[in-house]
Amino acid sequence: MSKNTYLYTIVFFSALGGLLFGYDTGVISGAILFIRKDFDLSSALIELVVSGVLFGAVLGAIVAGVLSDRFGRKKLLLVTALVFTLATLGSAMTNDAGWLIVARVCIGIALGISSMTVPMYIAEISPPHMRGRLVSVNQLFVTVGILVSYIVDLSFAASGDWRWMIGLGAIPAAVFGLGMLFLPESPRWLMKMGRMERAKKILCSITSETEAMKEIADMQKTPPKVKRTPWLRRMFIVGIGLAIFQQITGINTIIYYSPIIFELAGFKTATSAVLATGIVGVVNFAFTIVALWLLDKSGRRKLLLIGLAGMILSLVALGFAFMPDQVSTVVGWLTLVSLMVFVASFAISLGPIFWLLVAEIYPLAIRGKAISVATITNWGANLIVALTFLTLIDVLKPTGTFWLYGGLSIIAWFFSYFLVPETKDKTLEQIELEHLQRT
Ligand code: BGC
Repeated sequence: MSKNTYLYTIVFFSALGGLLFGYDTGVISGAILFIRKDFDLSSALIELVVSGVLFGAVLGAIVAGVLSDRFGRKKLLLVTALVFTLATLGSAMTNDAGWLIVARVCIGIALGISSMTVPMYIAEISPPHMRGRLVSVNQLFVTVGILVSYIVDLSFAASGDWRWMIGLGAIPAAVFGLGMLFLPESPRWLMKMGRMERAKKILCSITSETEAMKEIADMQKTPPKVKRTPWLRRMFIVGIGLAIFQQITGINTIIYYSPIIFELAGFKTATSAVLATGIVGVVNFAFTIVALWLLDKSGRRKLLLIGLAGMILSLVALGFAFMPDQVSTVVGWLTLVSLMVFVASFAISLGPIFWLLVAEIYPLAIRGKAISVATITNWGANLIVALTFLTLIDVLKPTGTFWLYGGLSIIAWFFSYFLVPETKDKTLEQIELEHLQRT
């Protein structure tokens, strides 16, 4: 196997964690209709089944930083894959609503852990000139997972078999675990633990010997303890800020609720609403590929600012689409087009770039814990948006709600313009050493 093929194999199997992220968050929108009937659930219990995963993910992100720094990225991902598989099978087989919620929370814990550990692992193993692309394969797999979950939901909708909808997630979970068995540990984590020979061997199996030696030399220069500098404080603000903005600009209202939005916009049959939802999924996937292609060429900052500008414009348009009292064909089309532009803009910017930047900007000595803080914030914000969206639609109406997200996107644009650094083409150590020089 050539070095590049080996590298792509590593990225493919670890990014299956991203596929589970997309699948497990996406599949519930279709499955819940039938779960509700089978278990005769109250609204409160429905909310628990749906948001149990998000709640669990916050818990998972809390422990992931400490665990990944202590036991290594690989071992943690292995255990996570096992939890994914067992909890998915459990949730598909249980006959009790309480156990279903417990199993969903466990899936969430696994998600919270893998959502941060996978990008960090890929960033730590990638050569600098292709790191943007490789880390973002994880985000690409998130979009694949969402798309596959829509297709699976649609295929089982006629029979109403929610157990299959949820249970099929066990297959990628098992493959993820089997794959992780054979993948190497992160060379950067090994260096941190003082296992230089092993780290060198792994780097040499992925990249040229000269490149590997250069990276090792840089790694040796990074300090084992981190000073609290203003720059580091700024990077914490960047990670936490982007985590919040990625969610409160509204992406998951579209991902989780788009059939409802399309119904509001006058798509009368359930099939047309579901079809429109499918289109949103495809756009998300297609534009993430565009991001993969551009991230290492144009850099992170430029794409982030362009994408955020597209999100602002499309949210304003979406607000206008819902202004007339009567729905019409024009309203329907304006909604569809604005939603597509919104999702495309997210897919080239905040979608991949949040996860990429947080994997890049923190010093090795505190990387796990620092990414964990950003990830907890991200899942927490996700939970808040999911729980408030329908109430916001009631209180502010769709126009007010989308303009609110638009206003928050404007703040996100200025935040990114003034605070987000460019990390393209630098090794993780150069990024870290530059931090030190700046203080
Ligand atoms: C976000 C998720 C979102 C997904 C959509 C991810 O980067 O963290 O919350 O559902 O993108 O593609």
